Amino acid sequence: MFKPFLIVFIFALTSAQNADPRCKVTKFSQVASAVGNCTNIVINNLVVPAGKTLELYLKHGTTLTFEGITSFEHIPWSGPLIRVKGKRVTIQGAPGSLLNGQGQLYWDHTGDKGLKKPQFMKIEVSEDSVFRNLNILNCPHHCIYIGTSDRLTITGWVIDNSYGDHVDNDYAIGKNTDGFDVSGATNLIIENTKVVNQDDCIALRHGANILIRNMYCAGGHGISISVGFSYTTFIENTLYNVTVQDSVVVRSANGIHVKTHADAFKGEIKNITYQNIHCSGLQRYGITIQQDYVNGSSSGKANTNIPIHNLNLINITGNILETNHTSMPVYINCGKGSCDGWSWSGIHISGGKKSICNNYEPEGYSCLASSGIGLTFNNFLLKIQFLIIVFIGVNSIFLP
Ligand SMILES: *[C@@H]1O[C@H](CO)[C@@H](O)[C@H](O)[C@H]1NC(C)=O
Ligand SMILES: *[C@@H]1O[C@H](CO)[C@@H](O)[C@H](O)[C@H]1NC(C)=O
Ligand SMILES: *[C@@H]1O[C@H](CO)[C@@H](O)[C@H](O)[C@H]1NC(C)=O
Ligand SMILES: *[C@@H]1O[C@H](CO)[C@@H](O)[C@H](O)[C@H]1NC(C)=O
Ligand SMILES: *[C@@H]1O[C@H](CO)[C@@H](O)[C@H](O)[C@H]1NC(C)=O
Ligand SMILES: *[C@@H]1O[C@H](CO)[C@@H](O)[C@H](O)[C@H]1NC(C)=O
Repeated sequence: MFKPFLIVFIFALTSAQNADPRCKVTKFSQVASAVGNCTNIVINNLVVPAGKTLELYLKHGTTLTFEGITSFEHIPWSGPLIRVKGKRVTIQGAPGSLLNGQGQLYWDHTGDKGLKKPQFMKIEVSEDSVFRNLNILNCPHHCIYIGTSDRLTITGWVIDNSYGDHVDNDYAIGKNTDGFDVSGATNLIIENTKVVNQDDCIALRHGANILIRNMYCAGGHGISISVGFSYTTFIENTLYNVTVQDSVVVRSANGIHVKTHADAFKGEIKNITYQNIHCSGLQRYGITIQQDYVNGSSSGKANTNIPIHNLNLINITGNILETNHTSMPVYINCGKGSCDGWSWSGIHISGGKKSICNNYEPEGYSCLASSGIGLTFNNFLLKIQFLIIVFIGVNSIFLP
């Protein structure tokens, strides 16, 4: 007899909360009360005023739904435009909804430099939180920063910064529009997501037990690992047990980019697998692994401070545009002894010149045997041989 009553009671409670006008947000002034009182929140066609963060420090178990267009008014500042904290939270975009960062009003092709541009969203959540079906347009700067988090799943997103590809005075206007920067996440899944941007599609900086799958990345710098943001703390420079699989990278600088910061504190990268990645229309490298980053770019001088152990690449295919004379399928620049245990198979990337492996060659891949066009080392040897033969020939004619 009691059970039906209990169910009716719970239902009445839930629908009472759904009906609670405090839980439907249409004005910015209503956000704090909804977040403080409700576990089922709808944000409907909200305009977030310039220079304000949409603070979503949610109650345990909250479901928050974005409906219609959420837009963020423009002013130069560093953001973030949205900050989410909570445990066991679900954030979702209703069908047809859009989060509009209005990056087009900020982009001046200087990215980090020039006028300040806000980061779009900062996330710190745990206990099986799910963020699904968010549709994001034009993040002014880095899009999604995932900080200290555990058991978070990101699924079914679109991040569309394609407007940043517009060229003004010879430069694309969008810059440093990273898709996802991950720093301190464990048991993270990012899947079924499309990113069109002008920097790393994903950049994994620190974390463990991360699965990335079914990504479509376009226009950016590839699916990246970038370790060495700390100058003081080993643990912050570690990345363990990552799988990136079944993904596509198109029209990007690189397909796969692993970089460690040569000027950072010590750290470690271990147990990384990239599998079934197809890359097309790359401009620079198919796969690039560099232990020589200083101040955000390659210095050419590799260091051993952050060794890379067990970097396994399986079935990585694609092509490089033939227009760039500095591009190649694989570029490895390791420190002496700081790369080991890499096992590669099924690496087929065409175009560019011959691959370079400095200080380390993975098992299952030969840089010398890699395909390539243009003047290669082997061509150079052939030409020297030819000159020697001509020289001997000429000598034998004229000598008595
Ligand atoms: C709950 O809502 C009321 C207004 O209805 C507000 O005064 C109160 O601060 C809210 N509680 C929290 C914890 O935000
Ligand atoms: C590695 O990460 C995966 C999630 O991608 C997890 O299922 C697995 O248990 C982790 N392995 C170890 C040894 O922690
Ligand atoms: C790396 O993988 C090996 C073999 O699967 C496992 O024994 C080890 O615990 C892993 N280490 C880390 C740090 O993930
Ligand atoms: C290699 O990866 C492609 C996707 O890039 C996939 O279609 C194909 O089945 C994979 N091949 C093997 C042998 O797993
Ligand atoms: C060619 O690659 C270099 C770096 O190696 C890069 O700076 C340049 O933008 C690329 N050019 C084109 C046309 O992609
Ligand atoms: C890195 O950049 C900063 C600021 O641009 C500069 O002060 C510093 O000297 C640079 N470090 C190196 C090693 O180039």
